[in-house]
Amino acid sequence: MNILAFESSCDETSAAVVRREENGGFRILANIVRTQIPTHRLYGGVVPEIASRAHIEAISAITYEALQQAHLPLSGIDLVAVTANPGLIGALLVGVNFAKALAAANGIPLVAVDHIKGHLAAAYLTDGEIPKPPYIALACSGGHTAIYRAEDYSSLSLIGSTRDDAIGESFDKIGRLIGIPYPAGAGFDKLAEEGFRLAAGGDEDFYHAYKRSAAYKDRDYALPSPAIADDTLDFSFSGLKTAAINLIHRFEQTGRELSAPALAARYTYEAVEAVAKKIALALDRYPGHDLVCAGGVAANSHLRRRLAEVAKKHRARLFIPPLSLCGDNAAMIAAAGYFRYEKGELADSSLNASAADSTD
Ligand code: KG4
Ligand code: ZN
Repeated sequence: MNILAFESSCDETSAAVVRREENGGFRILANIVRTQIPTHRLYGGVVPEIASRAHIEAISAITYEALQQAHLPLSGIDLVAVTANPGLIGALLVGVNFAKALAAANGIPLVAVDHIKGHLAAAYLTDGEIPKPPYIALACSGGHTAIYRAEDYSSLSLIGSTRDDAIGESFDKIGRLIGIPYPAGAGFDKLAEEGFRLAAGGDEDFYHAYKRSAAYKDRDYALPSPAIADDTLDFSFSGLKTAAINLIHRFEQTGRELSAPALAARYTYEAVEAVAKKIALALDRYPGHDLVCAGGVAANSHLRRRLAEVAKKHRARLFIPPLSLCGDNAAMIAAAGYFRYEKGELADSSLNASAADSTD
């Protein structure tokens, strides 16, 4: 079965063709991602109206490109999948209306996909084994920080989440204040490594050496944990973010020079440890479950390493998509869409986009 999928929830327009093989695996035939980042960078973040227009300009061309790359005519497509929520409403509407029109005009079945379920489905796009439900899933992106129990390949139960900001947007906000261009995640990751290495003094296990270093005890860079200090699986990233903003102001007011690597290291350490702690708690509560981590922030090298340690300690199998599939892309939407189709959950011409999270 060949699936043509679209993703336009935020600042990447993507069209993909993915084949569901007879043996149950998925093969990516094309996954075109047209990023709008250079445009939004001028404003320090995503401008929704500009995003919608850029999606409109890109979507036809990348659909054509994806079909060409897959060596398939439209008549070779068996299913159309599209991100319908959550995200920027104007941006989502572009993909939804394009997909609806294309499916209707060509008599192809249509499925609507939740963006978060899409991110998790990136873990299914592999030649190897895929996670076995029920599994524990961490979705960490620009807009989400949530822990789910996936009952099957298309149903999630929320078991923990941020009570305010998402981890990715907090990286972006603090990154911006220390001079990293939008989106700051990848630059923040590198800057934190520099901070860890400076503190670790040549120890190759720089992340753990950082905790034992004098730098970690430096009270000028102290930051609170975003893990809610109770037995829930919840987070609050706004407290960490506000503390970091105050820390930056304190340096400015006293005329001292802030070390951006030291701040990035401390911020990253607190964020990653909080996630590791809550994931460990989730794996304690749900023994024998696999662990999936996905979304743009799953590209963070420190988080990837730390989650591998937590999973090993809990004897859980860890599935994290390759870096190329952590960010927004339509191939993951195709995989998630397949499982909705398998359950008979087809969309019709009444399909609408929604900015909100799914409730199912
Ligand atoms: O999933 P995604 O592409 O879009 C949303 O659905 O939000 O995630 C984007 C987020 C941005 O906040 C970006 O800064 C962050 O992922 N990100 C990272 C890294 N690469 C991207 N955050 C931390 N470390 C990274 N290496
Ligand atoms: Zn995303």
